[in-house]
Amino acid sequence: DRPTLVDRYGRTVDYIRLSITDRCDFRCVYCMAEEMTFLPRNEVLSLEECARLVRVFVALGVGKVRITGGEPLVRKNALWLFNTIGKLDGLRELVLTTNGSQLEQQAAGLREAGVKRINISLDSLDPERFRRITRVGDLDKVLRGIQAAKLAGFQNIKLNTVLMRGINDDEALPLLKFAIEEGLDIAYIEEMPLGAVDHERDSTCVSNADTLKLLQAHYPLVASTETTGGPARYWRVAGTQTRIGMISPHSHNFCEACNRVRITCKGELFLCLGQDSKVDLMPLLREHPEDDAPLIAAIVGSMQIKPKGHDFDLKRATPAVVRFMSVTGG
Ligand code: GTP
Ligand code: 5AD
Ligand code: SF4
Repeated sequence: DRPTLVDRYGRTVDYIRLSITDRCDFRCVYCMAEEMTFLPRNEVLSLEECARLVRVFVALGVGKVRITGGEPLVRKNALWLFNTIGKLDGLRELVLTTNGSQLEQQAAGLREAGVKRINISLDSLDPERFRRITRVGDLDKVLRGIQAAKLAGFQNIKLNTVLMRGINDDEALPLLKFAIEEGLDIAYIEEMPLGAVDHERDSTCVSNADTLKLLQAHYPLVASTETTGGPARYWRVAGTQTRIGMISPHSHNFCEACNRVRITCKGELFLCLGQDSKVDLMPLLREHPEDDAPLIAAIVGSMQIKPKGHDFDLKRATPAVVRFMSVTGG
């Protein structure tokens, strides 16, 4: 039997989120600054190092791996990594979070590599508005990407939507309608204060309680106890295939059930999305290329500093966490 990672609060960590690049071809207004500098190549884990990390975590009881970025699919040879991880014994679920821009070309390969599920960000169905929110993104390309993912045979594709008051909060219903027509799930995410952005999150953040009320007025929703092992609470839209997820860090804290840690593309192991606690794994990887023992010891030891939870506070003028969401991949 494999050992398991358990933190000070008795939470078992069996899920890692691995960011394989800090780069992204979009610049979403809630996620990044307009001007970003990206890491030079030698400061980023190689794909072999990523694969080694995942192998070690799987040996420590991790059964779910989500690949994130930046935009993971802009990393050269990303498919090699998916293929390698997809073959690991002991891994239950290899999943991906993406902005969808590269899916048209890559969906079929990802499916063959064994990716189980894909979550795709989509904040607007209006091309101009989509461009404003992503600063550079092309809506059509993403829509084609979604179709490609469906065609490749992916099930339970989930859209991720961040609603912002005065920006796209009038699209909660149209996006749900789209999800239902396309047979997709959709998660509404309350914006989290990571990194300083151009808008005031305190005034733009839309509470999921309000979104739910709106959706319930138009569709028959049935609360569900099912989970995807993430923070979302789900509702089913009766008579359809669609599930609605609510990710509500502000109004419904889910830290008690936290089962995950994140690794950045420079090998920092972040113990919580909303805190700075971390352990640097890169030196251990590079100084001990043949010996996993120091790496394993550091990962096991990190459980002692996993925070109880976030303390996101939209009222703070500058976010307590200065790194952008793109650093940890959400
Ligand atoms: P599944 O449940 O497996 O579908 O994935 P997910 O919804 O957890 O992953 P995804 O990458 O699609 O993230 C959706 C949103 O959930 C993003 O805004 C993430 O930042 C947020 N999220 C995921 N995990 C956590 C977490 O541990 N804490 C907080 N505060 N937010 C999280
Ligand atoms: N708050 C909430 N969600 C965010 N995302 C990016 N930045 C933020 C933020 N500040 C979302 C993206 C993507 C997911 C990984 O995280 O929309 O779907
Ligand atoms: Fe876990 Fe931190 Fe997310 Fe809470 S905010 S669920 S403790 S990662």
